[in-house]
Amino acid sequence: MKHLSKQDKQIYQAVKNELRRQQNGLVMIPSENFTSLAVLEAMASVLNNKYAEGYPGKRYYSGNQHVDEVETLAINRAKKLFRTEYANVQPHSGTSANLAVYFALLKPGDKILSLNLTHGGHLSHGSKASLVSQFYKIAHYNVDPITNLLDYDLLRQTALNEKPRLIISGFSSYPRKINFKFINDVAKEVSAYHLADISHIAGLIIAGEHPNAISQADVITTTTHKTLRGPRGAVIMAKKELAPQIDKAVFPGIQGGPLEHIIAAKAVCFAQAITYKFIRDQKQTIKNAQALAQTFINNGLTLITGGTDTHLILIDLRPLKISGKEAADILASCNIYANFNVIPFDEQPANNPSGLRIGTPALTTQGMKESEMKIIGQAICDLLKNPNNTDFKIKAKGLVAELVSKFPIYNKLKY
Ligand SMILES: Cc1ncc(COP(=O)(O)O)c(C=O)c1O
Repeated sequence: MKHLSKQDKQIYQAVKNELRRQQNGLVMIPSENFTSLAVLEAMASVLNNKYAEGYPGKRYYSGNQHVDEVETLAINRAKKLFRTEYANVQPHSGTSANLAVYFALLKPGDKILSLNLTHGGHLSHGSKASLVSQFYKIAHYNVDPITNLLDYDLLRQTALNEKPRLIISGFSSYPRKINFKFINDVAKEVSAYHLADISHIAGLIIAGEHPNAISQADVITTTTHKTLRGPRGAVIMAKKELAPQIDKAVFPGIQGGPLEHIIAAKAVCFAQAITYKFIRDQKQTIKNAQALAQTFINNGLTLITGGTDTHLILIDLRPLKISGKEAADILASCNIYANFNVIPFDEQPANNPSGLRIGTPALTTQGMKESEMKIIGQAICDLLKNPNNTDFKIKAKGLVAELVSKFPIYNKLKY
């Protein structure tokens, strides 16, 4: 960063501080990960300078021959990776990808059926706080109040009653496998489209560790920066028939010029995600989450659904009598990063909810395995159960320091 460090010391210092924070802490927010250096380099490239409204071969600007090559590579790699007929790699984020799908498939006033936000759904799936709920009617399905598992029968019954035009599956804080086939069958039964938003679990699906949504949905969206380990952004995939309307909805529907530097980084990430190492790491991500969950259970913590099949765990903090925000703050004070999260039927507000969401993608990228998860899990339990105990804090900080020196990340970045 020799230019940045000379020309803008304030921004340089903030970036450097952030690198140190990532290097010196345990990143356990399940939607975060470490990209490869190749992905970072593609993002910081001159592709940023190019306007390329349109699609490969059909741009509204001249000089796009190299950008076309980049975007075509990204599209072809996405299609190969996910075994799908069509991919649009331009969405700037998961939210934009979902918006584009709604624009492509729905008319204003059509009904969307999705999982309640507090039960694990995502804001962009039609929560009241999102503009989506102003353009479309929204109905929700829920998890079972006892088991906190998806209530598939209720989902079907709600679909039959509500007659939605679109059913959304794929969630933000649901730790269990999703039966995409069941949801797809319900969608067909009520003549609705099925959108599977696999943002959280894309990497697990590629590794064959989670039921595949590809043949069980009309449209798939995924972010590229979570388990996929790519740049911040998203992709939409679908059957060929839907391609023209989805392309039109992305550009010019909701976006202008595509971020070709990010698209290049997506292409790099797709190439990396097809490798044996990536697949092995995804399997390890789940093993790590399960080892962590078991440590929590052994210490008497309450986990939503009793455990995990995926990369994430949702802890119900009510028995410990601390809030999600307090828990996240205690952990952060020891350089362990998790995020506060609502739990099903939460009576507390989203800015200070009753849950803590914690996951293993980033630690697994660093090379940690089950034995480290057990030690980290124990330290987290000690902190959550004894929030005012200074000895546990000192011990946890020491443990973090030891682990980050044993499993360094980005040590080739010379900031
Ligand atoms: C299931 C799901 N969909 C969409 C998104 C939105 O992604 P973005 O933050 O890139 O808009 C998220 C983000 O956490 C998510 O969990």
